[in-house]
Amino acid sequence: MLDLFSGEQPWQEPLAPGAVILRRFALAQDNALMNAIAQVVSQSPLRHMVTPGGYTMSVAMTNCGHLGWTTDRRGYLYDPVDPLTQQPWPAMPTVFSALCQLASEAAGYPDFRPDACLINRYAPGAKLSLHQDKDEPDLRAPIVSVSLGLPAIFQFGGLKRSDPLKRLLLEHGDIVVWGGESRLFYHGIAPLKNGYHPLTGECRYNLTFRQAGNSEQK
Ligand code: SIN
Ligand code: FE2
Repeated sequence: MLDLFSGEQPWQEPLAPGAVILRRFALAQDNALMNAIAQVVSQSPLRHMVTPGGYTMSVAMTNCGHLGWTTDRRGYLYDPVDPLTQQPWPAMPTVFSALCQLASEAAGYPDFRPDACLINRYAPGAKLSLHQDKDEPDLRAPIVSVSLGLPAIFQFGGLKRSDPLKRLLLEHGDIVVWGGESRLFYHGIAPLKNGYHPLTGECRYNLTFRQAGNSEQK
């Protein structure tokens, strides 16, 4: 339902070349997004993946869409099958693809067609170390990242791990889009602080939309 009472309208903040924060852009859809997350999670449960190096990730993850990001002993990969259920990942909910379409258009990437959505759940203390999103074959497609629930500090750097980091608070309903020059910029999430959010409880959710296959093959 549209939030008619807070009076808060979305606004944009430039982040880097090719990157922008769409503040509160997902707010009007927050209930529908949470219901859709619950639907996906009921089919492909959240789980703590283990990195190839043997580290159990603090963020709990699942996926929807044609391809899902996952790990195995060899490395990180996109798989059409959930290794936990041995079934295809749940389909991308319409409310996800519709929001992603609007967000990528607003950010200047009108042709973005995601085939993968990673769902991240952060409990207090959970973090995502500095990394690049580089497992996707077509780097012309941007990344669209939706924040729901508890606020988190997003670190956004440059092409080198050692580049200076911006630290930005991402709040409920914010969407970050990065592509073009900043597509491979290092980023991460600082350990989540304790808190309570009326919609998500004691956690934060993040939806990361990507084109993980070759667009020619679809
Ligand atoms: C990610 O980099 O995959 C997730 C970022 C976030 O949780 O905001
Ligand atoms: Fe990432």
